[in-house]
Amino acid sequence: MYAARALLRSRLAPPSTVAKPCKSPTSACYQVFVRHTSTSTQDGSQSKTPALDDLLGAEQVGKAKTLSREVGRLSRELDAVYSRQRGLNRVLKGPLTVRRVARAREWGGRVSVRDGRVFVENKALSGEAEREIPKIWLRDNCQCGGCVHETTRQRLLDTFSIPSDISIKSHSLNTNNVLSIEWSDGHTSEFTSQFLTSTVKPDHDKAIIRQGLKNVSLFDASIASSPPRHTYTDERPTAIHTILSKIRQHGFCYIDNTPHSTPTETETLLRRISFIRETHYGAFYDFTADLASQDTAYTNIALEAHTDTTYFSDPAGLQAFHLLSHTEGSGGASLLVDGFKVAADLQVADPQAYHVLATVNVHAHASGNDGISIQPYRGFPVLEHDPATGALLRVRWNTADRAGVEMPIETVGTWYEAARKFDALLKEKRNEYWEQLTPGRVLIFDNWRVLHGRSAFTGKRRICGGYVNRDDWISRFKMGEFGREGVLGALAEG
Ligand SMILES: [Fe+2]
Ligand SMILES: [Zn+2]
Repeated sequence: MYAARALLRSRLAPPSTVAKPCKSPTSACYQVFVRHTSTSTQDGSQSKTPALDDLLGAEQVGKAKTLSREVGRLSRELDAVYSRQRGLNRVLKGPLTVRRVARAREWGGRVSVRDGRVFVENKALSGEAEREIPKIWLRDNCQCGGCVHETTRQRLLDTFSIPSDISIKSHSLNTNNVLSIEWSDGHTSEFTSQFLTSTVKPDHDKAIIRQGLKNVSLFDASIASSPPRHTYTDERPTAIHTILSKIRQHGFCYIDNTPHSTPTETETLLRRISFIRETHYGAFYDFTADLASQDTAYTNIALEAHTDTTYFSDPAGLQAFHLLSHTEGSGGASLLVDGFKVAADLQVADPQAYHVLATVNVHAHASGNDGISIQPYRGFPVLEHDPATGALLRVRWNTADRAGVEMPIETVGTWYEAARKFDALLKEKRNEYWEQLTPGRVLIFDNWRVLHGRSAFTGKRRICGGYVNRDDWISRFKMGEFGREGVLGALAEG
């Protein structure tokens, strides 16, 4: 689109912007350039640029101005067309939405080979009886021990040694629905029909394993009566998966009965999930309110609901808090708000505002520490969706750390209006879940979904906790949920 616009602009650009020297100018064209831009005096110095009217005549200048206005108008029309195109693409892919159900449909389509071409039927797709699987893909995804390392599942095959005109010399389909292919390069491959039919899975179904999806239970203030929890004393190998599974479903989980005389057990718990993420604040932390890290989180003032580390391109995945002690004072209740639930509320209340928060990029920064200003490599929307499925993936909301809103300045009011509506919903009493944390109860929540805050407090609070990367915890969850074979079996799905 930019090429078309540039062409349009170059066609319609007024003469004053066209007159520039050639790369290897002759004296004639150089003189033309000089005449357009400056006037030499007798002593060789240059006077100020004369008015365009004097150089081109009022009529030409009038034409240039008209054309310039026309360029502006057409450019705005192009913007509108591209915006409609993006909207149309979105409709074709499926609407932006908060997805709650992760349920795959049945496959079992028929695999057939005709005229040296492989076709897959998929009963789950209406109106799309068959699709052809390109031979290059099949050969590249041969699953034999010579093409894929049996332990690491890394590709051993040199993809680009496959002839581009690779063809099927012979094939057979046995009764177990395994397709055996002898290729023109002499290699033999075997594919199960399950593997072949997975190539035509809709993106929504592929996303279940790819993103580790689980049915989502949105929460509001009423979750106070039975919040998701587990016990630290569960030492079974499945304990961590049970915790992660609850977080995947509800957005958070308490781990009760955690020893609290020192932070050691809390750190052990986090390390049982995965690596603790290091940031400019350190890795596992243990602090009292002393403003040592130059961030409002380290004071005793109230904090509105927010997500952490919006200033990273990849914000922290999980966050853990454990109040080890609170002496000589009171207050400091913890606030949790389900960002997905409030996004769903906004979509119902004001779809246009939802769309604005889903499409306008916002920048952020962390600059409190000496010599540090961390910013993401690009802006991200408040409500970030999976481009493949349109499902909400991540909520980023931190007013304190917000930097620029990526919109032409004259239109930025639109974002503020949408953000104000989201903010009002976040602060509705029915959406705020307040809980007074006590020593022994670790809170772990999904920082890509759940916003957190706290009320002001007095006295001394000792808190420990840390972050876990999103990829680390979701990968851990997926291995527990689908098993190694399930996860690795879906690698080729894309
Ligand atoms: Fe925070
Ligand atoms: Zn092979």
